[in-house]
Amino acid sequence: MPGLFDPLALKGVTLRNRIAVPPMCQYMADEGRATDWHRVHYGSLARGGAGLVVVEATAVSPEGRITWADLGLWNDAQAAALEPVVAGIRSAGAVAGLQIGHAGRKASANRPWEGDDHIPLGQPNAWETLAPSAAAFGKGLDRVPRAMTLEDIRRVQADTVAAAVRARDLGFQWLQLHMAHGYLAQAFFSPLVNARTDAYGGSAENRARFLLETFRAVREVWPEDRVLNVRLGVVEFHGDDEAMFLESVDLLNRMKDGGLDFVDVSMGFNTPDAQIPWGPGMLLPHARRIREATGLPVGTSWNLSRDAREADALLREGQLDLYTLGRPFLDDPHWPFHAARELGLEDAAARTLPPPYAHWIARYR
Ligand SMILES: Cc1cc2nc3c(=O)[nH]c(=O)nc-3n(C[C@H](O)[C@H](O)[C@H](O)COP(=O)(O)O)c2cc1C
Repeated sequence: MPGLFDPLALKGVTLRNRIAVPPMCQYMADEGRATDWHRVHYGSLARGGAGLVVVEATAVSPEGRITWADLGLWNDAQAAALEPVVAGIRSAGAVAGLQIGHAGRKASANRPWEGDDHIPLGQPNAWETLAPSAAAFGKGLDRVPRAMTLEDIRRVQADTVAAAVRARDLGFQWLQLHMAHGYLAQAFFSPLVNARTDAYGGSAENRARFLLETFRAVREVWPEDRVLNVRLGVVEFHGDDEAMFLESVDLLNRMKDGGLDFVDVSMGFNTPDAQIPWGPGMLLPHARRIREATGLPVGTSWNLSRDAREADALLREGQLDLYTLGRPFLDDPHWPFHAARELGLEDAAARTLPPPYAHWIARYR
């Protein structure tokens, strides 16, 4: 099986290696528009040698932002502001990916370093939140959302398609639909949140409807030769995880029939009291099972090892197709170079860094 530094070809997209940076919100946007911060941040991550850099959760509509400082893609000015971000990632040799989503009942929060909690309605930067049902998440996210009407559902799906079209026109090669972490799509999927009694709630089939319909609508506008990826929470660590896992497999298989190319295996984060077993590689067994049960290429994150040999071995054993590190990349954007050196690749610097860095670093210890 291929290792960390073998390319990954999916559809018409080839990653130079199997290292990915997952979406990580920066909460530094201006009215949803990317700023200097994003241009520098994403350029530096791509320059560090990853094969894929996925730009953070980008809201499909204003009320879908987690915080007022999230990126958005519901207007042309926001698309224009992302152009240099895409160019910076591509010119550094990485494939540019984008995650789009809607934060549902977790929207309208303060930035993590300013409280991470809901801003009370009526205060600046607060807005009405939407969810499948009118129940709050809890703890600091205690505002009760409005239960979505069928019209709301159609509108958010149309917004998602419109954002996908803008992402396509911007030249993103990889699109990730955010269907994890307790945000809107994941909330529809979860019986812990979704208490609807119409066609979008109740049975597993009904709870999957919003996700499947949205996926199919996006696939229609997303080019055949580019990668369409979902990030799905396949476990909740709260209640009957096996049932949720099997429902996830079923949903992913149906998406596969509809043209899904890649799965990022993640968690539900639907309740504040989930018993999450934080630990090294905690989602690896789930990712492996999803890979086996769907035959789709998979990645996962959450505390994967920073050790290059362990990373390489996981790929060679066929447990994962892509190696995704989040916080480690914030700590060390040159992780791919360090990994290549640790694996003893002769051309470690030239393989991972652009010439103005590689030329000097290759000779320097
Ligand atoms: C600052 C920060 C922002 C994040 N933003 C997002 C996001 O926009 N979308 C998402 O799906 N996950 C997001 N995550 C989760 C990461 O994509 C990743 O799954 C998580 O950091 C676990 O990987 P790690 O243990 O390698 O850091 C974020 C994580 C961090 C640390």
